[in-house]
Amino acid sequence: MTAIAAAEKMDRQYRFQRHIYDATRTHYLLWRRRLIKELAPPRGGSVVEIACGTGWNLVRAARRYPQARFYGLDISAEMLRTATAAIQKNGLRDRVKLAQGDATNFDLQATFELAGADRIFISYALSMIPDWPSAIESAVRALNPGGALYIVDFGRMERLPHAPRWAFRRFLKHYNVTPRHDLERVAREAAGRHGMQIRFEESRRGYSAYAVLTKD
Ligand SMILES: C[S@@+](CC[C@H](N)C(=O)[O-])C[C@H]1O[C@@H](n2cnc3c(N)ncnc32)[C@H](O)[C@@H]1O
Repeated sequence: MTAIAAAEKMDRQYRFQRHIYDATRTHYLLWRRRLIKELAPPRGGSVVEIACGTGWNLVRAARRYPQARFYGLDISAEMLRTATAAIQKNGLRDRVKLAQGDATNFDLQATFELAGADRIFISYALSMIPDWPSAIESAVRALNPGGALYIVDFGRMERLPHAPRWAFRRFLKHYNVTPRHDLERVAREAAGRHGMQIRFEESRRGYSAYAVLTKD
């Protein structure tokens, strides 16, 4: 899928949904707050969210780390409209920059005049990006030395009872979401290629997956 086709698809999906996205997602996009808590960027550091959506994470992270600079990239102009409004409403315009871009092929220098990032995170987006391994690879390549990539998404759900798992997977599919069963393997391979440390975890029934890739 081309970037233009992906942008059109996401715009179609979120044109109306973006107005109810935050209110409806808070209860099932788990571990986002945990990710923000663990980001801990260095003083004066840069934090990039790839596929930032409505800016829900960016607003909370920017409030939590007032000494850091934040950047959000998303392919959907519609989602960025909501994110821009959220950043303005929270008085964060000077510290949070937003831009349209493709997670699988982005250039922080050209987009944000940023040579590299100290923290990058991808929250519940790999499950919507067809070429998601390229998004991981692009993020890893954009990290500064000492930087870290944080990922949170749906897990394999293999320890959920059959009926609710089947129903929830159907629900996710309707919204173009495909849990990535080989997320752990792909993340470990990316860490290996780049000589990074990796921590991978799934929640008790496999509902959420969480990975942190750390660069020396
Ligand atoms: C489920 S939302 C997650 C938003 C946010 N990260 C969160 O945690 O609430 C997925 C987001 O991924 C974005 N997206 C999908 N494909 C993308 C791509 N190739 N590049 C950048 N963003 C993409 C969508 O536009 C949407 O905003």
